[in-house]
Amino acid sequence: MRNWLSQRTNFVILAGMRIGSLNLESNLFLSPLAGYTNLPFRLIVREIGGVGLCTTDLVNARSLLEKRAKAFKLIETSPADSPLAIQLFGSVPEEMRDAAVVAAAQGAVSVDINMGCPVRKVCNVGGGSAMMTELTKTVALVQGMVNAVKIPVTAKMRLGWDEDNLTAPDLARALADVGVAAIFVHGRTRAQGFGGTVDLAGIRKVVEAVPTVPVIGNGDIVTPAAARKMLDETGCAGVSIGRGAFYDPWIFRRIRHLLQTGELLPEEKFAERLRVLSRHLDLMIEVFGEELGCRMFRKIAPWYAKRFGPCHEFNKAIVHLSSRKMFLEVVDDYLRWRQQFLDDAGELLPRFQPAPLVASFMTSADPLAPGKIPVPGGPVERW
Ligand SMILES: Cc1cc2nc3c(=O)[nH]c(=O)nc-3n(C[C@H](O)[C@H](O)[C@H](O)COP(=O)(O)O)c2cc1C
Repeated sequence: MRNWLSQRTNFVILAGMRIGSLNLESNLFLSPLAGYTNLPFRLIVREIGGVGLCTTDLVNARSLLEKRAKAFKLIETSPADSPLAIQLFGSVPEEMRDAAVVAAAQGAVSVDINMGCPVRKVCNVGGGSAMMTELTKTVALVQGMVNAVKIPVTAKMRLGWDEDNLTAPDLARALADVGVAAIFVHGRTRAQGFGGTVDLAGIRKVVEAVPTVPVIGNGDIVTPAAARKMLDETGCAGVSIGRGAFYDPWIFRRIRHLLQTGELLPEEKFAERLRVLSRHLDLMIEVFGEELGCRMFRKIAPWYAKRFGPCHEFNKAIVHLSSRKMFLEVVDDYLRWRQQFLDDAGELLPRFQPAPLVASFMTSADPLAPGKIPVPGGPVERW
């Protein structure tokens, strides 16, 4: 039994966990989704509960050092947004080292290094997934960061560049040797992009490669059952969830409940979804101002609506959102329109219920399988 696993019986997989000197309340993590996992969304997830650590979107190390307003907006936080990791990308060792120091000074409890991003803009400068192809260089860069800060340094990677170059186990081992405190691994290669199935056996190989460092599995977890399966089959110490949290911000609480009791909580009711949707908009307005906050919310609200049942009238109206007042009108109109799909008790008639969510590694037949959140399209070489 590994020391970060507190207990494991029939249904208790674990509650809290440690990353280096850091004690976390749960082994459930919010994965960075650039453009989505900003301060308002992190606060939403934290208010609902269950998450152990949230991470910012990826931040360009150089932009942080140049004190660019956009980079600082990405790491904007508040007392309720804790504990928070800042994720950095870059390939110049001195910049990554100095940016880690800035991250620590800004209050991050850990700094995460992006080694998984497949997009060209990031890989062309030697960052993101490209770091998985140059082990010696990457390890030296990481060592510089570990030496420069007191907070834990973690790495987020894929299984490798492509199926002929599954470097994650070797890289994880080398990073563990220079003091990386945890490894996050998305169970796909860079060549896979977001397609195909998450490879649980591939994640397991990373777990086996680093017996002294916690490995956190990631990819396609959209239900508590999927989290449970990833923990069971890979032996990972925790799981990290990105897109699944957008389908269901309650997922962390539901996973925690499943792991602690063996009982599966039902999905949240419509009224609660609407309450949280409205709260999310308020936070967007607080952080980004009414105009920008509403504009950004146009792409967020449809994620909530996916679990509303019939929602095309809502989606049609919300793409024009420009004020809080307009939001209330859109919701009012939608509630009236939605009544045609309800029974006498005000519940959605069964034939209008949204299809159940199923992770790719549980069955490939699910119409709502991950991949429906915008991901880069076309051949991976052109991203
Ligand atoms: C729109 C989008 C943005 C992403 N941005 C980041 C990022 O900034 N940093 C990172 O390490 N991974 C990023 N990822 C990858 C996710 O963190 C995660 O590894 C991947 O989506 C698989 O997990 P999921 O199925 O739970 O979403 C992004 C993925 C998507 C779809």
